[in-house]
Amino acid sequence: MFPRDFAWGAGTAAYQIEGGWQADGKGPSIWDAFCHENGRVFGEQNGDVACNSYELWEKDLECIQRLGVTHYRLSLSWARLLPDGTTRHVNQTGVQYYNKVIDDLLACDVSPMVTLYHFDLPQTLQDQGGWKSPGIATLFDSYAKFCFQTFGDRVKLWITINEPHVCAKLGHEDGIHAPGLKEKGTAAYLVGHNMLRAHAMAWHSYNSVYRPQQKGAVSLALNSDWFEPSDQHCNEDIAAAERDLAFTLGWFAWPVFVTGDYPEVMRTAIDARSAKLRYNGASRLPSFSSDDPAILGTADFFALNYYTSRKVKPGGGCGETLCIKSDRDAEEVLDSSWPICGVSWLAVVPYGLRKLLKYIKDTFNNPEVYITENGFSQVGQLQMEDVQRCEFYKDTIMEVAKAIHQDGVNVRGYFAWSLMDNFEWADGFSVRFGLFHVDFSDAKLRRTIYRSGREYSKIIAKYKSGQ
Ligand code: NOJ
Repeated sequence: MFPRDFAWGAGTAAYQIEGGWQADGKGPSIWDAFCHENGRVFGEQNGDVACNSYELWEKDLECIQRLGVTHYRLSLSWARLLPDGTTRHVNQTGVQYYNKVIDDLLACDVSPMVTLYHFDLPQTLQDQGGWKSPGIATLFDSYAKFCFQTFGDRVKLWITINEPHVCAKLGHEDGIHAPGLKEKGTAAYLVGHNMLRAHAMAWHSYNSVYRPQQKGAVSLALNSDWFEPSDQHCNEDIAAAERDLAFTLGWFAWPVFVTGDYPEVMRTAIDARSAKLRYNGASRLPSFSSDDPAILGTADFFALNYYTSRKVKPGGGCGETLCIKSDRDAEEVLDSSWPICGVSWLAVVPYGLRKLLKYIKDTFNNPEVYITENGFSQVGQLQMEDVQRCEFYKDTIMEVAKAIHQDGVNVRGYFAWSLMDNFEWADGFSVRFGLFHVDFSDAKLRRTIYRSGREYSKIIAKYKSGQ
């Protein structure tokens, strides 16, 4: 059903699990600053301690081994390695921490997939303009080169940036993620632009300097829902679903996999709306110039984070204000036949993943695909016997099998999100995505496997043995 060398994984991210926010010379990140401001995060919670993986890594490793995964996806904390964000000062204790994690994984026959940037910019770089400043691309490239140089002898799968769409929109336009900016108009597009430039620079560095020896692969992880027209026969609804795909996945995948530039649908929608509101004549969506690194071709595989599907029709937006929502002009129509899990934004639609995979194959030149995140959350009353999540994993993995066998999509791996309950950004610890339960009220932060963890490990064992 799955190729023998298929990657079966589980994922986490530094800020969500590590804690040790000031330990041994780590610098502050934008999430440290954001959480320490009142009213930003559910219950005023923060990742100061989180799962304390900085001290309890061995416990995480036990969980990883219990699952029997072939791969573990983790992220590096930029500010733990380079406290002020630059290579002028390296925190050797941070280097040792990640060296141990990587070495321990390999000793257990688990391959690391390493994300360089999972939402946690060093605060010092934010103070210099953060992702809105064009100079961030060079700083990111230096950080990336430092990581390739330090860990690349052992790490063969790299993700440069996780979910640029989320960083841009939630962090710089909606203000619900760090750095908490609520700037309508151009900020999010500028951030997305600089993230693409940063990613491309790092990919080129890897390609020319490190790949010949290290022989690894580099990509960026893109999140997207699957979007369907509310009415399959209505042209306006069909166009709204296309716009939604362009504004989430296409925004980043089109430049990297298809043309080196943004999707036409996106630019047309943005420019039409800005002109109507007599902005300033210039496009709010930046253009790549000849000084920029080539963007096209800067991914060795397609990394997809998928959680949910939505039915849409034209509408929504933020009135006369210029914002992404208005540019997209697509509004969700709730489908009551789709069950909702945990967080309100998660309708459970396993078949949406198959459709999205087919769309990726057809639109982005049949790339190798790793599903770098997919998961199901619990909120409120906690269930250790989480039967619904077991069904979710079984159903979703069946859809991946169909995508491979019936649609010919070249899926190379599947990573469940997440290894264990952790700090779920603005939702704090109230939303649990783990395959392992973490008892945050216990000083030892005990990890206990959920039924879904046992289920996932059975699925992996079955397919690993070639059944
Ligand atoms: C995507 C993000 O990469 C991850 O950090 C987050 O916890 C999950 N989605 C669930 O929201």
